[in-house]
Amino acid sequence: MRLAGRRILITGAASGIGRASAELFAREGAALALLDRNDHGLSDFDAVPCHADVTDVAAVGAAVAAAMSGLGGLDGLVNCAGKDQLGRLTEIAPEAWGEIIAVNLTGAANVCRAAVPGLRAAGGGTIVNVASGAGLFPLPNRTAYCAAKAGLVMFSKSLAMEVADGGIRVNAVCPGAIDTPMLAGSYQNAPDPVAEKTMIQQRYLLGRFGTPGEIAAAILFLSSTDASYITGTAMAVDGGRTFY
Ligand code: NAI
Repeated sequence: MRLAGRRILITGAASGIGRASAELFAREGAALALLDRNDHGLSDFDAVPCHADVTDVAAVGAAVAAAMSGLGGLDGLVNCAGKDQLGRLTEIAPEAWGEIIAVNLTGAANVCRAAVPGLRAAGGGTIVNVASGAGLFPLPNRTAYCAAKAGLVMFSKSLAMEVADGGIRVNAVCPGAIDTPMLAGSYQNAPDPVAEKTMIQQRYLLGRFGTPGEIAAAILFLSSTDASYITGTAMAVDGGRTFY
């Protein structure tokens, strides 16, 4: 029970990595508020449901207030809400570029802005932002997503400096290819999906996709007192992709 007594808000909790984190955090004793723009995925949990789009500043403010009211305060935040987008810069519309930055970078910042006063009021806490390997090295055909995730990595490090005086640790997790609905979108529409999937897996030292639970385990570590001397890091959890 590494999160006993902790009150934690998780965004993007309806699916994939966010959902796996919610399941693991609940097993570890956390009281949870779960934020997503997809209501359906939240109803299975015994948690404070928070419907919001992370790009909507007013809705995020109301959702974080509801989370704090429902939980009686806030000790931790995990930002998982995100969106992938394939396309070269010259192929994607400016609106699509704007949406990718808005969801993956500004969205996480919106939730952090709303949550930091509550974490300070609690005497400290943790923030884990789920960035991506795409924030550490370039990927083909993903200019907007890489830019957004690299921005999220540096945002996390900068925020760590701003809030350390409040006892708040901020870290980023950078997953490799993780077997979720989002990942499936990156090979299902290829001319030969099986060959594309195999090609992606071969980029990884461990030769396979990761599971949502393997990322949730890293998020748990950074959110727990096991990581009490860790802040401002970007932790690759990527089957060795970073140096391969
Ligand atoms: P997913 O598609 O399974 O889940 C994403 C969740 O975020 C969904 O429940 C969705 O409704 C929610 N969401 C999306 N936009 C939102 C918005 N504007 N406001 C509120 N909720 C919103 O995706 P997955 O794979 O679990 O991804 C989670 C995070 O991990 C994302 O930030 C993604 O970029 C990142 N990531 C995923 C990788 C993968 O291979 N699956 C690899 C590296 C990073």
